[in-house]
Amino acid sequence: MIKTVEYLDGIVRMIDQTRLPLEEVFVDCATINDVANAIKTMVVRGAPAIGVSAAMGVSLGAESIQADRFESFYSELEKKCLPLAKSRPTAVNLAWGIERMKRVARESKSLTIPELKKRLKQEAINICKEDIECNMAMGNFGQTLIKDGSTVLTHCNAGALATAGFGTALGVIRAAVNAGKKIDVLADETRPFLQGARLTVWELMQDNIPVKLITDNMSGFFMRNKQVDAVVVGADRIASNGDVANKIGTYMVAVMAQKHNIPFYVAAPISTLDLSLSSGDEIPIEQRSGDEVACLNNKRITPEGAKIAHPAFDITPNDLVTAIITDRGIAQQSYSTSLKKLAEQ
Ligand code: MRU
Repeated sequence: MIKTVEYLDGIVRMIDQTRLPLEEVFVDCATINDVANAIKTMVVRGAPAIGVSAAMGVSLGAESIQADRFESFYSELEKKCLPLAKSRPTAVNLAWGIERMKRVARESKSLTIPELKKRLKQEAINICKEDIECNMAMGNFGQTLIKDGSTVLTHCNAGALATAGFGTALGVIRAAVNAGKKIDVLADETRPFLQGARLTVWELMQDNIPVKLITDNMSGFFMRNKQVDAVVVGADRIASNGDVANKIGTYMVAVMAQKHNIPFYVAAPISTLDLSLSSGDEIPIEQRSGDEVACLNNKRITPEGAKIAHPAFDITPNDLVTAIITDRGIAQQSYSTSLKKLAEQ
């Protein structure tokens, strides 16, 4: 299995997702700020992978604190977490990972400082392991929705690379294949960062899962020609009413799927739910640099000085979502009730 992120002795090692698939190189982060920078620059990306990396980053931050009392240790840890918390705004897993680490620190205040640092390291490793277990559970629930012989369209990369391993949307596909079903995948290229072309295709080819790359403007063609049986995507944040924030372009795919009566499934762990938000309108949408749109392979494709917009995510309203596959089961409308019930389990 691909190791997206790994906690080794004193460093967090990540496969550099900006360089895949042409180069398989790793980046070693020695400090919490190195991890923040890796998240910001998309060396590591995908909501669950960001959450896991953030937790490991908090542990690195804790290791570097010189304090002999819990109060000074904790206030230093909070300060160190600030740049990490700001590294990317949309995926709620970032705040979730940091908050879980801070809660464990507070609950372990009776430990000595060296014991507390060890406890935090263990928690980050647990979060990483749990993420893979969540994805396997999600895969088992989700694969029941996918019929043998299906062609499944996916957008962005919600695979092993976007998580600690196995993937969310690609986890559902992997589980269907493991259950003996014949599945073909259509992967949207996902402009401008090309997560589909670079990462999803790479991952699925490694697993010998049949995959065909299409550009983002082709999905309607394949849907209208009855060549798509289901859509499965991941999520960066899901509001309590089931509105889904995911990679820019997801909304267009969902509208098109509804038009053609194709089920549109979202696969995400419970840690991607943000029940504090009543709707997707409250989810912050990351605006990234126009240069990422203006250039392909570092080559400019539009005139110098052209005005460019680059929202990195969009919101798919809950009425376009057939079901939300979580690690605790499958939620359907009404999401306000079904998601709350799963979160409380
Ligand atoms: O900008 P990215 O690459 O971090 O965006 C990733 C996505 O939108 C994924 O679909 C989402 O995080 C789900 S990953 C399991």
